[in-house]
Amino acid sequence: MDHFTYRGGRLHAEDVPLERIAEAVGTPVYVYSTATLARHFRVFDEALAGMDHVIAYALKANSNLGVVATLARMGAGADVVSEGELRRALAAGVEPGKIVFSGVGKTEAEMRHALDAGIAHFNIESEPELEALSAVASAMGVTARIALRVNPDVDAKTHAKISTGRYENKFGVPIDRAPDFYARAGALPGIEVIGVDVHIGSQLTDLAPFEAAFAKVAELTRRLRAEGHDIRRLDLGGGLGIPYQASNAAPPLPFDYGALIRRTVGDLGCQVVIEPGRLIAGNAGVLVSRCIYRKSGEGRDFLILDAAMNDLIRPAMYDAWHDIVPLTEPAPGAPLTPVDVVGPVCESGDTFAKGRSLPPVAAGEMVAFRSAGAYGAVMSSEYNSRPLVPEVLVNGAEFAVVRPRPTYDEMLARDRLPPWVG
Ligand code: LLP
Repeated sequence: MDHFTYRGGRLHAEDVPLERIAEAVGTPVYVYSTATLARHFRVFDEALAGMDHVIAYALKANSNLGVVATLARMGAGADVVSEGELRRALAAGVEPGKIVFSGVGKTEAEMRHALDAGIAHFNIESEPELEALSAVASAMGVTARIALRVNPDVDAKTHAKISTGRYENKFGVPIDRAPDFYARAGALPGIEVIGVDVHIGSQLTDLAPFEAAFAKVAELTRRLRAEGHDIRRLDLGGGLGIPYQASNAAPPLPFDYGALIRRTVGDLGCQVVIEPGRLIAGNAGVLVSRCIYRKSGEGRDFLILDAAMNDLIRPAMYDAWHDIVPLTEPAPGAPLTPVDVVGPVCESGDTFAKGRSLPPVAAGEMVAFRSAGAYGAVMSSEYNSRPLVPEVLVNGAEFAVVRPRPTYDEMLARDRLPPWVG
């Protein structure tokens, strides 16, 4: 459920008409809903009620400080994968003791920064990384808490580019090799083994792969405990999918995901960490764009928008579907015609949708891409020297620009002429 609905014929974010934001800030613009973020956080929190748990929001989905601070105020932790994300989490007020550091390529500088901050634990993905962390922590005279990210070789049945739990993927350590890894970790200076971590992929629309992975984690935990390791935290990653297409079957609910967690690992008495990103932020955001031209092609019409692949890359990168709706509610029974929805970037890949049945949208009118709150703004770029798209956070009847659109002067000022052409 989200808070983007038509009221009086105009699409609103909570109590604010999106048109009003577009007029104030210009288009394209990302707009997020506080009530939706809060609701999604709460459903996870309720799904795990009664278990010791941390909801470590995956910042990679949407790392805007306004968004992260909103979640931090509700008690969210953070899953970070770079020093930049760590700094964002800390700046947004996330408690260091609720921050986990994931990712296959943490540098020594990033490890030092995280140890200084006192984060909850590192999710370790390889032996060389473990050794590097041991050396860094020992040199600092501190102990690094770690969980090993195990690769359970489970098919997440999602898009190949966002599947991470098969042996062919670069992530984690094959689960069969985990006992040896833990034996080695237990003997290293500066390292304290505290848990097991798993993350099998993103946009999962079936609970069965989670069940298979968590069952393997439970089995491994029992074995590691028998071998003398004090496993007290299970980090089960993120990955629960969201409905992108109003007409598709709804993915599983967080409540059922929570029940699955209880069923598979609940009897181990561990603290459970989950790292949801998309489910919290995805349907809490839209990208608002204006139609620049409507162009008749040979056998097809093009809707040329002022948003482009640099602003929302998911359709070009994963063939992802985003519902596209006009800001003005179409009259009941308005005819639907197929159009190719494209941006102004000079690549054929700059196509948001092909042959999409849409109600009439004329030049000058605006549309919203739904489900754009996760992996939208964070994956944007300045390709074609298009300034980064701004972000707005709505809260009831109020809204605030939480990242302004850079001016062209600011954009150009970041470059320098080398002395030999100056
Ligand atoms: N934890 C780890 C270790 C991850 O790698 C990810 C996502 C998450 C948590 C959060 O997963 P979520 O709950 O959001 O599914 N750019 C792609 C998605 C990439 C996901 C990468 N890892 C997209 O636009 O679909």
